[in-house]
Amino acid sequence: MKDLYSFPHDFTWGAGISAYQTEGGVNAGGRGVSIWDEFEKKKSIRNKHSASVACDFYNRYASDLRSVKWLGLSHFKTSISWPRIQPSGKGNINKAGADFYDRLTDEMLEQGIEPWYVAYHWDLPAELQKKGGWTNRDTVFRFLDYCDLCFGLLGDRVNNWIVMNEPLVFVGAGYFMGIHAPGRRGMNNFLPALHHVNLANAQGIKNLKNLGAKHVGTAHSFASIHPSTKLDVDIKAANRVHLAINQSFIDPMLGYGYPTEKLPFMKKIERYWEQNDGQLLLASPDFWGVQVYTREIVKYAWWMPYIQARIISAKSRKKIVSSIGQEVYYPALSEVLDWFIQHKASDTPVYITECGISMQESFLEQPFDDTYRIEYYQNVLETLKPHIQNSNVKGLFYWSLMDNFEWAEGYFAPFGLFHVDFKTLKRTPKKSAEWVRNLLGQ
Ligand code: NOJ
Repeated sequence: MKDLYSFPHDFTWGAGISAYQTEGGVNAGGRGVSIWDEFEKKKSIRNKHSASVACDFYNRYASDLRSVKWLGLSHFKTSISWPRIQPSGKGNINKAGADFYDRLTDEMLEQGIEPWYVAYHWDLPAELQKKGGWTNRDTVFRFLDYCDLCFGLLGDRVNNWIVMNEPLVFVGAGYFMGIHAPGRRGMNNFLPALHHVNLANAQGIKNLKNLGAKHVGTAHSFASIHPSTKLDVDIKAANRVHLAINQSFIDPMLGYGYPTEKLPFMKKIERYWEQNDGQLLLASPDFWGVQVYTREIVKYAWWMPYIQARIISAKSRKKIVSSIGQEVYYPALSEVLDWFIQHKASDTPVYITECGISMQESFLEQPFDDTYRIEYYQNVLETLKPHIQNSNVKGLFYWSLMDNFEWAEGYFAPFGLFHVDFKTLKRTPKKSAEWVRNLLGQ
């Protein structure tokens, strides 16, 4: 390792992808339909893009893992596709789907790469959505059953488990705003989904630990929230947004309950509350996954339902924005860590389970010349340094190993260290990939 960043020798360096964003093979080996396959059919994706082939990771995983090694990384994170191993969301394991994760895991181990699996990165079996998806309490039990299958399949070889990826995003965008699968909107979808996902997350952690999993965590997205002015109304508005997006998905697990006092609309969650839920929502993960992409600036807005606050878009603030419209703001991660470490009030280790940026790369003069991404990582790593000790940060996963299907944005937002030509599926290392390889002293 070069002196530049002087991270500890045992710091975990990895790269990540997720199943739906990269695998393709949507009809291979008896895979079931996911809510994202259905969402695509409604033409809800930018430019009508589809993930049916995506990066074809399903067939090309061995050479992609060689790219991980080439980068000098020895940890790799991906997710298991629920409909691939349990097509309808209940019943026995689908052997052909299970074989894929068997082969993938063996390949990682053979290449000397430590596997990290996310159980749920947003691709719910469509059959479960027919019964309400996450708004239905039964999905919690289906999820626990699925976690059993995952552990039964890979638990003999895999130590690192992440139960869920970014609950805020798949619940907020999928069950409140309707811009992600399954495209549901409104508080009557959001509140039950929030509660059931929190139950599934906590129970999933406990379940995997009881089964004997060694290192179990869960990954959240957070944003650094700033008030637009020093006025009391704006500070309070920013605090409400902070509670809604940063705390409602972690506070129940930490034992703080839902932030109903300052967010009265959340009181209606009582409708979905059953006896003992207070206990069922608690869990002590072995680590927390933290994912921070930006900051938000918040202003008081009396007319906004529920929250009386609005987020001022980065574009209208004339900031540099990423290809998914977020402000490029280097200190966001370190600001979030300052808050989170104090808030969780424990020394449970933290892993930065995703870290990345995407700008429109088609404008670049030289293909693959993503100097902006190197600059981003240099700055973020610099702000991370003091946290390695103070916040017990143990590792970081670059997001993403390669360009992939960016959900509602289709292939419009390239996050990869490797460029993927989606016509030929050829991978090419970008400048940032060379930089990562060089940083790790290859
Ligand atoms: C977080 C999500 O986990 C991932 O799927 C997505 O590609 C990145 N954010 C970038 O938006």
